[in-house]
Amino acid sequence: MPIETTASVVAEVPDDAELLAVPYTSDLDPAYAVELHLPVRDLLAHYEAKGEAGEVVEVPVARAGGVGRVLFYGVGDGSPRALRRAGAALSRRAKGRDTLTVVTPEGDAAVFAEAALLAAYSFKIGNVGTKPVRALAFAGAPVDELAAAVGRAQTVAQAVALARDLANTPSSVKDPAWLAERAAETGVPVRVWDEEQLQADGFGGILAVGRGSARPPRLIQLSYTPEEPADRHVVLVGKGITFDSGGLSLKPTDNMKFQKTDMAGGAVVIAVLGALARLKAPVRVTGLIAAAENMPSGTAQRPSDVIKHYGGRTVEVLNTDAEGRLVLADALAYADAVLDPDTVVDIATLTGAISVALGRNVGAVYASDDVLAKELLDAGQAADDRLWRMPLIEDYMPALESSIADLANVEAGSRFGAGSITAALFLREFAGKRPWAHLDVAGVGRSTVDEGTLSKGATGFGVRVLLEWLTRS
Ligand code: BES
Ligand code: MN
Ligand code: ZN
Repeated sequence: MPIETTASVVAEVPDDAELLAVPYTSDLDPAYAVELHLPVRDLLAHYEAKGEAGEVVEVPVARAGGVGRVLFYGVGDGSPRALRRAGAALSRRAKGRDTLTVVTPEGDAAVFAEAALLAAYSFKIGNVGTKPVRALAFAGAPVDELAAAVGRAQTVAQAVALARDLANTPSSVKDPAWLAERAAETGVPVRVWDEEQLQADGFGGILAVGRGSARPPRLIQLSYTPEEPADRHVVLVGKGITFDSGGLSLKPTDNMKFQKTDMAGGAVVIAVLGALARLKAPVRVTGLIAAAENMPSGTAQRPSDVIKHYGGRTVEVLNTDAEGRLVLADALAYADAVLDPDTVVDIATLTGAISVALGRNVGAVYASDDVLAKELLDAGQAADDRLWRMPLIEDYMPALESSIADLANVEAGSRFGAGSITAALFLREFAGKRPWAHLDVAGVGRSTVDEGTLSKGATGFGVRVLLEWLTRS
């Protein structure tokens, strides 16, 4: 469900604001000029407030016609990171209420509002839990600047919400064709390859992974063209496995139950493409989502099968659960051969190994190009999708050798290990010579906590970093 909380901008705090939020710093200095008829400093001291970001002190006040409430909220050092914490905490505290009027803090209003909106996201099938705050009214000046910041925040937060919704949708509902329909709803021009067209054009990886399912695979292409002619063309490739059972290399139940979110990378690509026009991104962007359901059945591919990818390269499939790289390889090879991009970035919930390396808060970026790596790291830092650069270790290439095909999809033994790195090395073989980066978001794609800007389930990780990167310059 999109974020239901509305966001608006007001020049001044209305006298009768029934629920008002006022920021304060670590010296307990409330940044609000209007008289609250409260000994604010003493009050905050009484509650042992420290001014940390995330702190909220709620006090009743006399208001026109009765009792109102003021939520004093700490803003810490006022950095973007602190303002995100503050915004999320505030919006969580206002759950179940009608309108929260917020005296906007000094600093980056866009990230503050974005966090407040993201914290109001939830995915529910049924009537559970408290509703998020109905409306946020941000008060501050200059109003047009604030309106622009809040507008951007809404676009970005709704894009994250769309990516979360797609990934949170149960796989009984979503299959590759469903994903293609959702992609078309973005309003961006779409081209979809069905099974026959995939066959005709030689997308052997996508077809092999999808063969075990009663619901056939799709390749989905979205094209964004900016109004002004662009000098750069970026291709984004997303892993769109609508359910990953492992295939004949079946996963145990405990691992399988999380695999409805295995199209999170594809969801990010759809959501990003859908938001680019509203953010007036100055680059041409093509999105590719390689969508398939990885299931075991009498028609499924077998461990030991050899498949032929787009462009003709052959791969020995030693483990059908290493399916993400097989569908991505086709899309990457197609991008390189046909789309002539300046830069290619893929995003995928690719390996369990990356959550061992980097955990649940930081995503991995691999890159063939230092400038591209730096750009993505910087954008990730600014947008709060934190990334860490991982190495493409050449010594591990022999892990992917096969005695009968050009490559194997996994290491046959356990000499090299490094599951996320060898997966990235596999993808690199298909990405061509252009600057290419790969985001492994298996660790960060799903949250186990309902906290801050995160809700339990899909995170939409990648939307914010990619939108930040694509709208810079
Ligand atoms: N979709 C999984 C990766 C994954 C694991 C995502 C946990 C989110 C949470 C991927 O297709 C997979 O199964 N990878 C295997 C690779 C192995 C067979 C080389 C893995 O990580 O175990
Ligand atoms: Mn798998
Ligand atoms: Zn997978």
